[in-house]
Amino acid sequence: MSTRLDPATPPYRVLPPTAVDDLTAYERAGGGSGLQQALARGPDATVAELARARLRGRGGGGFPIAVKWRRVRDAARRRGEPAFVVANVAEGEPGSYKDRHLLETVPHVVVEGTLIALHAVGARQAVIAVKERNDRGVGRLRDALAEIRAAGWARADDVEVALGPDDYLFGQETALLEVLEGRPALPRVLRPDQRGLFAGLRAANPTAVDNVETLAHAAAILGGDANRFLRTGTDATPGTILCTVVGDVARPGVRELAAGTPLRTLVVDLAGADDILAVLGGASGAIVTDDQLDTPLEYDAMRSAGLELGSGGFVVVDHSRCIVQVLTTFVRFLALESCGQCVACRVGTTEIADRLHRIDQGSGSRVDLERIAARARWLTDGARCRLPGGAERLVVRALERFGDTIAAHVGTACRARPIRTPLIDTLDPDTGEVVWHPGYDSGVPTHARRRGMPR
Ligand SMILES: Cc1cc2nc3c(=O)[nH]c(=O)nc-3n(C[C@H](O)[C@H](O)[C@H](O)COP(=O)(O)O)c2cc1C
Ligand code: SF4
Repeated sequence: MSTRLDPATPPYRVLPPTAVDDLTAYERAGGGSGLQQALARGPDATVAELARARLRGRGGGGFPIAVKWRRVRDAARRRGEPAFVVANVAEGEPGSYKDRHLLETVPHVVVEGTLIALHAVGARQAVIAVKERNDRGVGRLRDALAEIRAAGWARADDVEVALGPDDYLFGQETALLEVLEGRPALPRVLRPDQRGLFAGLRAANPTAVDNVETLAHAAAILGGDANRFLRTGTDATPGTILCTVVGDVARPGVRELAAGTPLRTLVVDLAGADDILAVLGGASGAIVTDDQLDTPLEYDAMRSAGLELGSGGFVVVDHSRCIVQVLTTFVRFLALESCGQCVACRVGTTEIADRLHRIDQGSGSRVDLERIAARARWLTDGARCRLPGGAERLVVRALERFGDTIAAHVGTACRARPIRTPLIDTLDPDTGEVVWHPGYDSGVPTHARRRGMPR
């Protein structure tokens, strides 16, 4: 198995050019030195080095890792409670495969990054959380952890692998903690540093939940790559970003690009898209239109353009598709995957999905369109998590950019080439072949909660 090397290959890379077979190969390539450095420096200097590198979380929000780790560590110390670390490999975003690609290619770096977090935060235990469905990655991860334990890496016995359900919300950090405690994936009100793993009435057990790509960068930075990391990317977001491109492109796949690379380089030059109606940044990252393809792949630049970098997963749709159907598919995904704890989703996201479906089927009216626009305006009010923010961005953006097309669709059934929910089950790194999640074949996922959504 090989990782595609792009013409725009940056000098700093977290993905090795080929899959790492075992711990010996990983160590031969310099693996393990990040943990050694973290142990030699001690927690405070480790976090200081990550602050110097300005490493931002790659799970979607771009939050500085050093701020998070200091917060968790300080809160645990102040309260005299244990801290915990959770490595997030849930990856349920449509169009994203980068975390699983990392896990399948080099699982040792996931364990190493988790061990660094364990030491830096001063945690009692670390958990690597991954979907049970991802059997390929789970197998690689378990083998890597067993090798690392056998090699006697410091505190490797305090790292566990936990398998989770096939829910989008499993990746939301507080819902993830609920799952690890044996409950359904329902987001909490308080952040993980305020109410962490196995928290009780009095104990908060501050917890750091980190995306695995973030942890892999932490291992590379501490292992001696800090200056190369800082020379790559932008001032606001140094380093590289793992991106996935799928959909109507010639060469789908996962690619590692310097942060700040224009989106056009990824979807046109590397993935070979030659006819673009829109690019969807997963279900949470908004709709990018042709005039925005030069937006840099970087958190702040994307936000300034009204977009979200999210998990760096992009779905390209060409002009054989219908924007109403595209929008319906993505918003319905969010509605189906929401948990119903807040009015935002129970009423808002669900109603928008319903009305969009009617317009898509040709039975919608002008009233549906008006209600969709009105609902989208308060969609995130009182929401416990950021899931409906995705629906809001999708709808507001689509109405802005494709308002006339959507209005013209009212009363007309869709005859465009159908689009399916682009949730990736597997992505072959050599051929780019994508296997889609079969749970959405009928448009309705087969797992978990059913609430009578339109088929
Ligand atoms: C609905 C929803 C799903 C999410 N899914 C994931 C996921 O699959 N993987 C992930 O790393 N973060 C996911 N996140 C973001 C996490 O809540 C959290 O911010 C992230 O794991 C923090 O890691 P980072 O600081 O390294 O980015 C999701 C957030 C939301 C609102
Ligand atoms: S915002 Fe939606 S998905 Fe998030 S907790 Fe509330 S109902 Fe659940």
